[in-house]
Amino acid sequence: MNNETILIIDDDPQIRMLLSDRLEMNDYIVALAENGVIGLDMIQKENPDLVLLDLMMPEMDGMEVLNRINRDHPDLTVIILTAFGTIEKAIEAMKLGAYDFLPKPCKPDHILLVVKKALERKGLREQNQFLREEIESQYNMFIGESSEMKKVMDMAHRVALGKTTVLVGGESGTGKQLLSRAIHTMSDRSDKPFVQVNCTTLSEQLLESDLFGHERGAFTGAHQMKKGRVEMAHRGTLFLDEIGDMTPSIQAKLLHFLEQNEFERVGGMRPMKVDVRVIVATNKNLTNEVKEGKFRQDLFFRLNVVNLVLPPLRMRTGDIKPLAFYFLDSFNRILQKKVKTINSDALDMMKKYHWPGNIRELENTIERAVVLSSGEEITSDLLPLQLSNESDEILKVGLHMDEAILKFKHQFITRTLQFTNYNQTKAAKLLDIQRTYLNRLIRELDIKTK
Ligand SMILES: Nc1ncnc2c1ncn2[C@@H]1O[C@H](COP(=O)(O)OP(=O)(O)OP(=O)(O)O)[C@@H](O)[C@H]1O
Ligand SMILES: [Mg+2]
Repeated sequence: MNNETILIIDDDPQIRMLLSDRLEMNDYIVALAENGVIGLDMIQKENPDLVLLDLMMPEMDGMEVLNRINRDHPDLTVIILTAFGTIEKAIEAMKLGAYDFLPKPCKPDHILLVVKKALERKGLREQNQFLREEIESQYNMFIGESSEMKKVMDMAHRVALGKTTVLVGGESGTGKQLLSRAIHTMSDRSDKPFVQVNCTTLSEQLLESDLFGHERGAFTGAHQMKKGRVEMAHRGTLFLDEIGDMTPSIQAKLLHFLEQNEFERVGGMRPMKVDVRVIVATNKNLTNEVKEGKFRQDLFFRLNVVNLVLPPLRMRTGDIKPLAFYFLDSFNRILQKKVKTINSDALDMMKKYHWPGNIRELENTIERAVVLSSGEEITSDLLPLQLSNESDEILKVGLHMDEAILKFKHQFITRTLQFTNYNQTKAAKLLDIQRTYLNRLIRELDIKTK
């Protein structure tokens, strides 16, 4: 049983009759239009699978109809009907994207064959599209094969359903945002909005109105009522990024919202209710922030219902290879390159490196290597210098003791700085030396500070 709809656009009633008889006999559903204008209208209404289009028509010429179909329905397959002597026009139409043509008068078997082929092709194209989308969605997947990541993912799976507030922690670039989105995707709210707010980028007043919205006239410049992100996230997920940077007065309002499921627009008089799941992320240690009095303890307790911590990349070296190959694949596609593999030297170097910028740094490293590569593999010389493991050089026999110690100092301090993301105060603490002394060493040894 064919249940595809075929639209015939032809001004000749005999041809319409003949074609529709043939097609209906073979269980196709047929729609008829006697001119281009009606035809285009029917495409909108009937959403046909295939169009048979006459080229020579009064009012709107078939070529014009074809152009409009191409413009408004680029995926629709069109077969041209050509009278004797108009073959050139048919060829021109095919250049414009028509799939095939049928000469008039039409032979019944020929019609059916061409129609069948065209519909098969349509099916294949749709299937391709589906496959492509499936691949795309896999490409946005979370890579994590190490046991450390599996633990986190397992926990994320378990909390995804439901409305529990989730606090995602981890160093910069470890994938906090990606994980938060993944939790939303795995939840029963996935078809509702995932609304993000970065709590660092806006001033306090702007952040408040961004979150909760404002009424008209609430402050100078508030010419119109504006809905806040909290409202936009209704039935979905609200993702508050860099929550550690939120100022105390907004922290208080957020706490109220989390406890009551209720908020007020800035300048608003009545509380409003929404159904929102909240996920927050931070690379700060909130326990410390609470101790230092920068973050409200009650809010911290309210947020810390489920705490997922993404381990730094150097603690899950098992993920380096799968991630590197995943990024290789995606940059090949984006940059249209065909770099097939990463050689073992380069992989070793990546495994030994401590990745202060975590996955984001790995991603950038692979992107750079793919750009630079002119061959089929990524070799260690395509990796940035800081990855090269210089420690072997210190052990080279023949160096004087003083020279070796200087080299060691240089490397050790460089490593520590990379580890702390070039935060010199933190580095000095780790090295247990005075900040001023570290500064002097940096100058004397000519150490890069980023
Ligand atoms: N497990 C993963 N698999 C694939 N890609 C990942 C993974 N984790 C992170 N990424 C990629 O690494 C980059 C950084 O991730 P993301 O922005 O989520 O980190 P973040 O922890 O939010 O960083 P920041 O603290 O700087 O905001 C993104 O491009 C992200 O797609
Ligand atoms: Mg982030």
